This record gives sequence, C-alpha cells and structure tokens, in this order.
Amino acid sequence: MSARDWHDGTRCVHAGLPEPAPGDAFLPGPVFAAPYHLDPWQGPAASPNGYGRPDNPTRRLLEAAIGELEGGECRVFASGQAAITGLLLALLRPGDRVLLPADGYFPVRAFATATLEGIGVSVGFVPTAGPYPSFDGVRLLMLETPANPGLDVADVAALTAEAHAAGTLVVVDNTTATPLGQRPLDLGADLVVASGTKALTGHSDLLLGYVAARSAELLETLTGWRTTTGAVPGAFDAWLAHRSLATLDLRLARQSANAAAVVELLAGRADVTGLRWPGRPEDPAYPVASAQMRRMPGVLCFDLGDAARVARFVEASRLVAAATSFGGLHTTADRRAQWGDDTAPGFVRLSCGVEDTADLVADIGAALDAAGPAGPLS
Ligand SMILES: Cc1ncc(COP(=O)(O)O)c(C=O)c1O
Repeated sequence: MSARDWHDGTRCVHAGLPEPAPGDAFLPGPVFAAPYHLDPWQGPAASPNGYGRPDNPTRRLLEAAIGELEGGECRVFASGQAAITGLLLALLRPGDRVLLPADGYFPVRAFATATLEGIGVSVGFVPTAGPYPSFDGVRLLMLETPANPGLDVADVAALTAEAHAAGTLVVVDNTTATPLGQRPLDLGADLVVASGTKALTGHSDLLLGYVAARSAELLETLTGWRTTTGAVPGAFDAWLAHRSLATLDLRLARQSANAAAVVELLAGRADVTGLRWPGRPEDPAYPVASAQMRRMPGVLCFDLGDAARVARFVEASRLVAAATSFGGLHTTADRRAQWGDDTAPGFVRLSCGVEDTADLVADIGAALDAAGPAGPLS
C-alpha cells in the first residue's frame, strides 16, 4: 500500500514528518530563531533559512503536514483571523465585489464592513443554505461550511461550478469540518482557509490559521502577503500544532460519536428546541452534508429558551465547561449571544470533547434536569 492510499489515522500520524534517520527525533523540536547564520559569500541564497519572518523549519514541517491533509500547499498564519483577513486583503482590490457568509464567524463580517467596505470593496452577505445570487461580477465567494454557529451547510462542488463559470474565485472556511471532514480543494474550491485553533489542533492551547491552495500563483500572493505583514505563528506554537495534529483522527472519531449520542439525547427532550447537527438525518443540512463530508463534526447547537437556563445548565454540569471556541478535548458550551452573535438568547453551541460517551450523555441529561424549565426560578 502506498502512502497515497493510507487511511486518516495513518496519514495524521505521519503527516509532515521528515524521513527517518537514526538518532533523530520523530518530530524535530522547535527551532527558535529570528536571524540564522548566513553564508558570508552567498548570503541568504545558500540556505532556506535567512530570517524568521519568512523562514522557519518548524513551520515548514507543519505546513507540509496540513498541506498533505488538505491536498494542496499550505501556509500557516498566526490565527484563523490573520489567515482570513490576509487572504481577503491580498486578493481583493477597490471596486471588487465579494460574497461572504451571512451566518458565519461574525468577526469576518465585522472586518468586511469596517475595513473592506472602507477601501471600496463591495460586500454582500449570503446565508450558507442559500439562496445564492448570480455570481456575475463577483470576484470572490467565501463559503463557511458547516457554518459557525448555526451549522448550515453549503454544496461546495455545485456552488464552485457556478462560481467558476462566472470567473469567481471560491474560498472555503474549513474550520468546523477539518481536512478529515471534507477536502474543499477536491470539491473544486480554489482556496481553503481555516482556524487551526479549533479541532485541527484541538488542545485549547494555541492560536493558528492557515490557507491551502493548488495554484502556485495564489500561493505566491499569499506567501508574499504573510511575509510583508508578518502574521506568522511562533515556532513553539507551530511545533505544538504539529504534535497535536497526529491525534486528529482519534479525537474527531470520539468527538463525532459523542455528538451523535448527545444529539440523540437532546432530540428526545421536549425542553430542548432548535437542535442542529449536520449528521442527524432529520437535519435540513443532512442531504448535502452526508454527500459532501467524510465525517461529522463534534459541534452541535440547540436552544434552551433563555440565558438563565443556559447558565443553570452549565453550572449543574460537571463535564461541560462554559467557554468559547470549539473542537477541543474538553466539552464546552457557548451561549453565542453573549459575544454579540445574531442568535437567540438561549442558543447554545456545544462542542463535544473526547470524554467517554456514556459519562457525557449522563452528565448532560442530569444537568438539563437540574436546570429546570426556561425562565427564572421562582
Ligand atoms: C469558522 C471560523 N473561522 C475562523 C475563525 C477565526 O479563528 P481564530 O480564532 O483562530 O482567529 C473562527 C474562530 O472561532 C471560526 O469559528
């Protein structure tokens, strides 16, 4: 069997590692360097490492790993937002029109309104589930699928075909799915962008972003952007991310199984409404998600009616931590309205961790019982 045919777990464990050599570590430790020694005669031409902003070997190994999983070439950034905003600023010019998700990660919309419109880019917001307008005159379409936090799904292959016919570039935010959940470049997208802060690295201990593409021209533009703006992750974060990536398959398997079990629990409770998970056959996103995605995320959402009930639920739980972000080892719940998201006051995004399924289901059921109905306790 060639490396090309390896399954997800094998690919994650081996992604980006150097050829084995006796005496070497499996994953070389982080290289901490701002300048590197230069050849006195040839200068930077003699080595791939001249200065830390453009060049770092630890970062390059991580990029090789993510690139293998996404099926393209990768450039990592200091955070998901650094990757997304860098991509938009590097590719859009005054007079261009861009379409962004109306229901995606809200700082992207805030950035578009504050900064892109300010420099003369025309911005449109489209719900992930559609309907999509004509792409005539659109320079760039960005999809976020599944969308955070509402978990609607867009049909990447179908939309990309339509967009390409109009000459529109397609970017997919792959944060929630991860490259094991779907490979947008295989579905025709020009670029993948993502936060590696979430499930990709999954230990709630670092910020990371990346872009991946197959086009040398796009990569050159984005590499140039990153080098001149300096939005790079440090060597230690890059190394931690690479180390964490090795267990992505195992973590996602447990998170996804936990999400399925929690969804089953919540679906059976009359006191929980608005349940969404793209892996649930009754979910409106299921037909596209089940055709397009290779596995379902550990993230689901639902409504507990009001903020006080959410607080009582989280307080009563021993396993669900109140925290934002998602995709980590620990199960977390986030009431998105508290951050300014356009969601109902009792809307919760629940990110299932890697706890044992039976423990998590028992804990969530008991916490919901303890939280009682919506409305303040009399
Ligand atoms: C879908 C999505 N894209 C991008 C980001 C931004 O990532 P970061 O927090 O690493 O900047 C997030 C963060 O939550 C996200 O959920």
